[in-house]
Amino acid sequence: MRRRHFLQASTALAIGGLTGAAGASVTPARRPLRILILGGTRFLGLHMTQYALDRGHWLTFFNRGRTNNDRFPQIERIKGDRNGEVGGLAGRNWDAVIDNSGYVPRHVRLSAQLLRASVPHYLFVSTLSVYASFASANDEDSPVGKLAEPATETVDGATYGPLKALCEDAARDAYGAGNTTILRPGLIVGPDDNTDRFTYWPARAARGGRFIAPGKPSDPLQWIDARDLAAFAIDTLERRVTGTFNAVSAPGRFTMGGLVDASVAAAKASVGPKDAPQPVWLPSEFLAAQQVQPWSDMPVWVPSEGDSAGFAATRMQRAAVAGLNIRALDDTVRDTLRWHLARPAAEQTTLKAGIAPVRETEVLAAWKP
Ligand SMILES: NC(=O)c1ccc[n+]([C@@H]2O[C@H](COP(=O)([O-])OP(=O)(O)OC[C@H]3O[C@@H](n4cnc5c(N)ncnc54)[C@H](OP(=O)(O)O)[C@@H]3O)[C@@H](O)[C@H]2O)c1
Repeated sequence: MRRRHFLQASTALAIGGLTGAAGASVTPARRPLRILILGGTRFLGLHMTQYALDRGHWLTFFNRGRTNNDRFPQIERIKGDRNGEVGGLAGRNWDAVIDNSGYVPRHVRLSAQLLRASVPHYLFVSTLSVYASFASANDEDSPVGKLAEPATETVDGATYGPLKALCEDAARDAYGAGNTTILRPGLIVGPDDNTDRFTYWPARAARGGRFIAPGKPSDPLQWIDARDLAAFAIDTLERRVTGTFNAVSAPGRFTMGGLVDASVAAAKASVGPKDAPQPVWLPSEFLAAQQVQPWSDMPVWVPSEGDSAGFAATRMQRAAVAGLNIRALDDTVRDTLRWHLARPAAEQTTLKAGIAPVRETEVLAAWKP
């Protein structure tokens, strides 16, 4: 074992007691892999790193050195930029590469073409946003979206999905389908989520008082805990599973009512009974009339109707057969709240997602059941 490998593994063991897929304790892999992560220092990358270390793998990060430089100091870092400065990757060998930070096909092409001679397996983290339509349930063979302006490299709400679909093509073209794993996650949630979308619900319950619960308790939701996605990703590298996988919870498993109930229970357990959280269920028609937006004002929730009828019904049997295991809702909510309550005060009070408190009060006051 090389010295750096020993340091990475022993630091992981010293952290100890961590849990991986679906909350199970992690046992070391039979054969340690050398894994390059393009990215690695934010949200999903942090969980992949922790899980890979727990499994005894040896990691290298490639990034610009701008994000979370204090996390995992024991990991080797190669500094560069996917936008053309990838020379630091030349002349090195790894067993697999995880592309966690590819948003523009040119960047993926550059890294995949450079690495294909020296790294046999490419895993690209894509997204369910690749699909052209959410009017009905998608599986992996559903059509993907197309760019209105084919040459664009601007990543925004309209181009993100189609650009990711082209990134998938770039990885497959360079590596061949037999050496490429494409993961298409739905909303990734859990501790360290820098978007605050799922976090909004346990955080809002913990603030206490009356709060808006959107639509109906039975409204379906889908997501994936970052720790379960991390475990699935590393597992596909260990078993050399290739192909394209929707990576999200089974349709119908999670609901808005379940998320609200779990958030209230976690809040009561963590912050005590003072100003107890009280969800007020408001119908989607009333919320629309009040211009309360699904997803942005009411994170995670999109009513299953019209163009979004299939949004929370994505099929994921292929990933389930390949070993994807998603932990219980209560675990995700409890751990997300625990992480949130340990954040700096400013991050706790100003969330990046969810309806503003003043506006929420106005909407609740306007509701006359
Ligand atoms: N969040 C979700 O709900 C969701 C859902 C579906 C799919 N996804 C996908 O999940 C993946 C991971 O997302 P994430 O939010 O965890 O991480 P991310 O923000 O996509 O990536 C951050 C990492 O990439 C590095 N990085 C960023 N730009 C770089 C560049 N130009 N050159 C080199 N390194 C660069 C960052 O380090 P430096 O800043 O130091 O360079 C950091 O380590 C993404 O591919 C995303 O599309 C996310």
